[in-house]
Amino acid sequence: MSQISRGLENVFIKTTALTYIDGDNGILRYGGFDIDDLVEHTSFEEVIHLMLYGDLPTKVQLQRLKTSLNEAYEIPQQVIDTIYSLPRESDAIGMMETAFSALSSIYGEMWNKNTNKETAIKLIAKASTVTANVLRAKEGKKPVIPESSDSFARSFLSASFARTPTNDEVKAMDAALILYADHEVPASTTAALVTSSTLSDMYSCVVAALAALKGPLHGGAAEEAFKQFLEIGEPERTEEWFKKKILEEKSRLMGFGHRVYKTYDPRAKIFKRYAQKLSERSNEARKYFEIALKVEELGIEKFAEKHIYPNTDFFSGVVFYSLGFPVYMFTSLFALSRTLGWTAHVIEYVEDQHRLIRPRALYIGPLKREVIPIELRG
Ligand code: CMC
Repeated sequence: MSQISRGLENVFIKTTALTYIDGDNGILRYGGFDIDDLVEHTSFEEVIHLMLYGDLPTKVQLQRLKTSLNEAYEIPQQVIDTIYSLPRESDAIGMMETAFSALSSIYGEMWNKNTNKETAIKLIAKASTVTANVLRAKEGKKPVIPESSDSFARSFLSASFARTPTNDEVKAMDAALILYADHEVPASTTAALVTSSTLSDMYSCVVAALAALKGPLHGGAAEEAFKQFLEIGEPERTEEWFKKKILEEKSRLMGFGHRVYKTYDPRAKIFKRYAQKLSERSNEARKYFEIALKVEELGIEKFAEKHIYPNTDFFSGVVFYSLGFPVYMFTSLFALSRTLGWTAHVIEYVEDQHRLIRPRALYIGPLKREVIPIELRG
């Protein structure tokens, strides 16, 4: 039994030059750059370049990348129709899986070292179109294709809400896209890697990753964390809620805890700053931020000794809510950003480290039995 690592804990399945995590000291770096530094000084497009080409772009390279993204927002009408054919109450990630399945049947090309990176860039652009239209379909609004702009975040927000976003909103969305872009090999990226290892196409890898992301222990946690704040309703009810739900009923505190971080998740610190700033714009958002602060305090008081602290999903919901997104979209926003990490990892794997992922299961059933024909089995 000692050969089994439950949950593949501490199993290394690839090398990577993409993301470095020091879980004991709360450090996260993409390609050697601290996450704070990237959020402060770069855009999501620059991070796309970093992840796919190994370094931050020059001005010319950045302009070229932005043009490629702007030219790839278009998706076939049949895929838009597929999204809109689903019931409005459908799960948003389920709708994205459906759209990406449809895209895989159209764009599911063979792996090619000369074109993989361009395929990833097109896929990321199309993810923006899919995500905006999932929101619009669920809200009963007409479909849109994001328009070209100087910023991926700006094009996405404009398409989602059919209005011009403010610079603060664009900056917050851009920060969220950077913060969720990659996190080494969590469940969703591992699902993408397993799929890529069979040399299935890049869009199918994203379908597999979306399916894994959806669960509340992974990407679904931002929605679950925010639902706690909604349930609490008023800041002064926080202590009573915490006592009943977390201390007495022993429910998991969503948005807390991490397999790798044994201290405060560095992404949560940055999301907290943006949540504070953006939530000032509305009384409701401000209230949920206040509730989140109180839950955070009580959570740290209770769980710090077990090294359980806020993770990235704890405050991100307050940012997304303040931007105007419904709670049901939070996981999809995570997915939009993570298409970068998924594609960058599968490219790294297929191009440089490819081997079919085929683990074993240790058999523990009866060793050998004879079949008794059905008529004699009683
Ligand atoms: N609330 C209460 N107790 C917790 C929590 C939590 N959020 N997280 C872990 N624990 C306890 C757990 O009960 C267990 O206690 P004991 O040893 O006494 O039985 C111990 O900590 C270890 O838990 P585990 O589930 O075996 O550890 P793990 O490494 O699998 O945990 C986790 C990682 C993310 C599944 C877990 O912390 C969790 O369920 N958190 C809540 C959901 C969440 O916020 N997920 C987002 C993760 S980060 C972003 C992402 O991946 O999308």
